[in-house]
Amino acid sequence: MPPCHVVLSKMEVKTSLLDNMIGVGDMVLIEPLSEDTFIENLRKRFEHNEIYTYIGSVVISMNPYKSLPIYTAEKVEEYRNRNFYELSPHIYALADEAYRSLRDQDKDQCILITGESGAGKTEASKFVMSYVAAVCGKGQEVNKVKEQLLQSNPVLEAFGNAKTVRNDNSSRFGKYMDIEFDFKGDPLGGVISNYLLEKSRVVKQPRGERNFHIFYQLLSGASDDTLKKLKLDRDFSKYNYLSLDSATVNGLDDAACFRTVRNAMQIVGFMEDEVQSVLELVAAVLKLGNLEFKPESRCNGFDESRIKDKNDLKEMCELLGIEQSVLERAFSFRTVEAKMEKVSTTLNVAQAYYARDALAKNLYSRLFSWLVNRINESIKAQTKSRKKVMGVLDIYGFEIFEDNSFEQFIINYCNEKLQQIFIELTLREEQEEYIREGIEWTNIEYFNNAIICDLIENNKNGILAMLDEECLRPGTVTDETFLDKLNTVCAEHQHFESRQSKNSKFLTDHSLPHNCFRIQHYAGKVLYRVEGFVDKNNDLLYRDLSQAMYKANHSLIKILFPEGNPAKVNLKRPLTAGFQFRASVGTLMKNLLTKNPNYIRCIKPNDKKAAHIFTDSLVCHQVRYLGLMENVRVRRAGYAFRQAYEPCLERYKMLCKQTWPHWKGPAREGVEVLLKNLQVPAEEFAYGRSKIFIRNPRTLFFLEEKRRQCLEDLATLIQKIYRGWKCRTHFLLLKKSQVVVAAWYRRFAQQKKYQNIRSSALVVQSYIRGWKARKLLRELKHKKRCEEAVTTISAYWHGTQVRREYRKFFRANAGKKIYDFTIQRIMQKYFMGLKKTMPSMSPVDKSWPARPYGFLDGMHQELRRIFHLWRCKKYRSQFTEEKKATYEEKLAASELFKDKKALYPSSVGQPFKGDYVEITKNPKYQKLNSLVEDKVLLADVVSKINRANGKGAPRIFLLTKKSLVLADQKTGQVKASVPLLDLSSVSVSTQSDGFFALKLKEGSTSAAKGDFLLSSDRLIEIITKLHRIGAASAERNQINIDISDEFLVQFKQDKVCVKFIPGTPKNGNGVACKRKNNRLLEVSVPSP
Ligand SMILES: Nc1ncnc2c1ncn2[C@@H]1O[C@H](COP(=O)(O)OP(=O)(O)O)[C@@H](O)[C@H]1O
Ligand SMILES: [Mg+2]
Repeated sequence: MPPCHVVLSKMEVKTSLLDNMIGVGDMVLIEPLSEDTFIENLRKRFEHNEIYTYIGSVVISMNPYKSLPIYTAEKVEEYRNRNFYELSPHIYALADEAYRSLRDQDKDQCILITGESGAGKTEASKFVMSYVAAVCGKGQEVNKVKEQLLQSNPVLEAFGNAKTVRNDNSSRFGKYMDIEFDFKGDPLGGVISNYLLEKSRVVKQPRGERNFHIFYQLLSGASDDTLKKLKLDRDFSKYNYLSLDSATVNGLDDAACFRTVRNAMQIVGFMEDEVQSVLELVAAVLKLGNLEFKPESRCNGFDESRIKDKNDLKEMCELLGIEQSVLERAFSFRTVEAKMEKVSTTLNVAQAYYARDALAKNLYSRLFSWLVNRINESIKAQTKSRKKVMGVLDIYGFEIFEDNSFEQFIINYCNEKLQQIFIELTLREEQEEYIREGIEWTNIEYFNNAIICDLIENNKNGILAMLDEECLRPGTVTDETFLDKLNTVCAEHQHFESRQSKNSKFLTDHSLPHNCFRIQHYAGKVLYRVEGFVDKNNDLLYRDLSQAMYKANHSLIKILFPEGNPAKVNLKRPLTAGFQFRASVGTLMKNLLTKNPNYIRCIKPNDKKAAHIFTDSLVCHQVRYLGLMENVRVRRAGYAFRQAYEPCLERYKMLCKQTWPHWKGPAREGVEVLLKNLQVPAEEFAYGRSKIFIRNPRTLFFLEEKRRQCLEDLATLIQKIYRGWKCRTHFLLLKKSQVVVAAWYRRFAQQKKYQNIRSSALVVQSYIRGWKARKLLRELKHKKRCEEAVTTISAYWHGTQVRREYRKFFRANAGKKIYDFTIQRIMQKYFMGLKKTMPSMSPVDKSWPARPYGFLDGMHQELRRIFHLWRCKKYRSQFTEEKKATYEEKLAASELFKDKKALYPSSVGQPFKGDYVEITKNPKYQKLNSLVEDKVLLADVVSKINRANGKGAPRIFLLTKKSLVLADQKTGQVKASVPLLDLSSVSVSTQSDGFFALKLKEGSTSAAKGDFLLSSDRLIEIITKLHRIGAASAERNQINIDISDEFLVQFKQDKVCVKFIPGTPKNGNGVACKRKNNRLLEVSVPSP
C-alpha cells in the first residue's frame, strides 16, 4: 500500500503547511523554543532548500545564493487563491494573501522587507511584484502597465545599485513603491519614492566595491558610435572615479545589462533624446572625475588652483553645452554673498577637488531623482477614481561596516524606524486579534526601540537635530565640534557611547577611537566616524558651480540645477540632508501605518555570498536583532496556533466518531465535541469567536499525529470503498452499455421490419388508390362531359330562343331589314323608272337608259340584253314568211360580208327586192321570161366587163334555182346561160366596188367561153342569193366565195389577174377598170 500522503495528494485533498514538513514550517510550532532550536530549524530547512519559514504571518527568508526552481509559473498557480497556511511557506503565499485582502477586503497593503544588506530584500520585492503581476487582471492596457512597473526595476538598479562587499547588487537607495489597483484588482499604475541615494559612492568607493553599475554598463555595453558621441573610452582605467580592483563582477555581464537597461527605458517610455541626455550626464560625471588641479601661487601669498589638463574639461563642456571659461572659473574662485555684498575668493587645490566632487555627486544624485520622477510620470495611474494601494518597501538594510559614516547612520536610523513599525504593528495586530476573538490576554514584554529612535530624531536633543544646529551655527564648525556637542547632550543616553562619555566610565575601551561615537542599535552596536558628517549634512555645492550648470545649453542639466537661476537667488541655506531624510522617513512611516503590514524578514546565511554555507553566528546575530525570538514568543505567549473553526473541523474531524464523516451543527460545536472526545486538557486551548486557539504546539502535533494514523486507516477504507465503487461502476457501465446495445439492436430490427411492412402496405395502398382514382376520374369525366353537353345544348337552345325572341331588336338585323327594304325600294323605283324611260321597240335602237346605281350594272346590262332579245322576238313575231325570207337573206349577207367587204354596209339599208327589172310585167322581157323555166329569183342589170379593154356592157342578169342567165338588156336575148352546177366559186374584192368573178368548173360545158367578170351595185344581194341557192340545194356543193383584192379569172385560154387598187377618183366617183396587159386587169376603186 502506498504511503497515505501520496494517496491523499493524488486525490487532491487539501494539503497544509503541516504536511511533509522539514523541521517546522512555522516557528511558532517549535518545541521547545530556544535560540538553538530556532536556528537549528532554520539551518535544517535551509539545507533542504526550504528558504522560507513562517512566524505566524511573518515570512523569514533565507538568502539561498543560488537560483531555486520555486518561482515558476506553476508555483504561481499553486499558491494562487490558497490560504496562507494551506501550502508550505513561500513568499508567494504572503503576496497572495496581501493581494487578496487588498482586492477582496479593500484593505490597502504594504509589504515591508527588512534585513541586512545582501539578505535578499530587493530580490524578495521583485518576487512579490512579479507574483502580483502574474495573478492580477490581464488585458492589453493592464499588461502594458504591469510591464512598465516591472521594467522600472532594471533602470533604477542600474543607476542606484552597486557592488559592495556584502552584495554584488546592493541597492544604494531606499525605494518604496506604491502599486495602484482599481476596484477589480487590475493594476493602474504606480508611484515610486526614493530615499537618500548613497551619492558619496560616485566619487569614492571603499576597497572591493564598485561605483554604480551604469558607469561600467555604459563603457562595456554601448556601441563604439555611442561612446564616440559621448567622448568616452571603453577602458575603465582611464577614469578616476571608477575603482579598478573590482571593476568586473563575477557572473555579471555589464554589456548585456546595458542592453537590458536601454530596452527597459524604452518600455517605461523614455524618449530617445532623453536617454541620450541621461547618458551624456553619466559621461560628464566620468569626465569630471578626470579633472585635476595644480596650485598656482598668487601675489597675495595664497595658492590658487588651476586645471592641469584642460582636454577633459573641454570635452565635458562640449557634452553639456557649458561655456568652458565659466566652468573653469568656478573651479578657481568662489563667490560668497553676505549682506548684499559679493566677495570673490580663490579656491585652493583641496577646495577645487572638493568642489569637483560635490558637483559630481550632485549631478549624479539629481540625475537619479530625475529618473525616478520621469519613471513616475510614465507609470502614473491615468484615472482619478479611488485606488487600492499595495506598497512595497525595499530599503537598504542595516549596515555595519568597518568604517561607518553619515550614510550608514542615516540608513540605520531608517531601519530603526522600520523595526519600530514592526514591533508596534505585530504586537498590536496580535493583541487586537485576541481582543477581537474575546480571548484573555496578558501583555508580553519585548524590547521597544523607540528609545533609540528618540536618540536620533528627537527635535530638541536628537543627534540629527544637533547636527543641524551645528551646521547652522555661525563660527567655525567642524566634525569635532559636532562630536563635542553630542558628548555634552547625549552622554547620558543608554544607547549612546563615545570616547569622552565612555572614557569617564571605561578608560580602557580601545575599540572606541576619539573621533567616533557609537550607538547601540536594536541590531547591534555601530561605531560611527564623525568625519564628513557636517559636510554631508550640509550637502554644499558652491553657487558658482550651480550657476555654471544652469547656464548650460543642455535641457536636462538646466532642470537639475534650478537654484543656479540668477533670477531666483535664494540666500537661505538649503535644507540639510539629515533634515530632509528625517522628514521623508516621517512621511513614509505615516504612510505605512495606514496600511495593513506584511513582513518579510530577510536573513543572510553567510558573509561569502555563497550557497550552502550556513554560518550559525551570523544567523544568530540577525535573528537576535531582528527580534525574531521575541516575535515567536509574543505569538506563543498567547496561543501558538490558531485556526478558524471550519478548516480545523475539516482537518481533524476523522478523529472522532461524532464528527466523522459529517458534522451537521455549527463548526465551533463540532470542534468542541472533537477536543472533548480526544481528551485534550482544557488549558491547552481556548475558543475564540471564530477561531480555536491552541496554546501549545505539542497539542497540535498530538492532533497531527493522531490524524496521520487515522488517515492511514481511512486511506485503506477509502481504497476499499473506491475499489468497490470502481468495480461496481464499471459493472454498471457494462450493464448499461449492454442494455443500450440491445435496445439499439432491437430498435434496428423492428425498424427494418416495420419499414418492410410499411413499404408493402404503401404499394398495395397505392394500387388501390390508383384504381379508385381512375374510376372516379372516369365517372367525373363522364359527368363533366354530360354537364358540359347539357350546358352547351341548353346554352345554344337558350341562345336560339333568346336570339329568336330578340332578333327583331337587333340593330344588325335592322340594318339588313333596312337594307333589304332600301334595295327593294331602289329596285322598285328602278323598275318603275325603267318602265318610263324604256327605249323604243325597234331592234336597232341602241339607246338604253343610264343605270341609276353602280351595283345594278350587271343586271342593267342583262336587262338590256333580255329586253333587246325580247324586242327582237316581238319584232320577229310580226314578220310574214316573205319578210322572214328577206331577213334571212339579209342575215346570210351579213354572215358572208360583214367586215369583209367595204361595200357591205351600204347594202344593209336596201331591201333585197330580187326583181328589179319587173321581168314578168315588162313586155320587153316576155320572151326571156318564158325561156326561163324556173322562177326568177333575181333579175337585175349588171355590167359585163369586157375582157379586152375592161369596159362594161349592161346585161340582164337572171338567177334561178338552177342556173344563171345573162341576157341583152335591150333585146332580152340570152347571151349566156350557165347551170349553177358548173359554177365553182365567186371572187370579190374587199373594197367598195361591185366587181365579181364567176368562176366555172374546168371541163364543164360553160367553161369554154371562160369565166365571167361582172359588176353590179347589188353585188351583195346577188352573191348572197347565189350562195343561198348553193346552200339550199342538196345535190350541189356550196359555191365558194373568195374575198380578195387579187384573183385570177379564166378568159378562154388565158388566165388574167384582176387586181384592185385604191384609186383616186378622177372623173366622178366611178370605178375604173383597165386592161394593163394580157395577164393583168387593174381595177382602181376610190376609197370612200
Ligand atoms: N530568493 C533568492 N534566490 C536566489 N538568489 C537570491 C535570492 N535572494 C537573494 N539572492 C541573491 O542574493 C543577492 C543579494 O540580494 P538582494 O536582494 O540584492 O539583497 P538586498 O537587497 O537585501 O541587499 C542577489 O543578487 C541574489 O544573487
Ligand atoms: Mg537591495
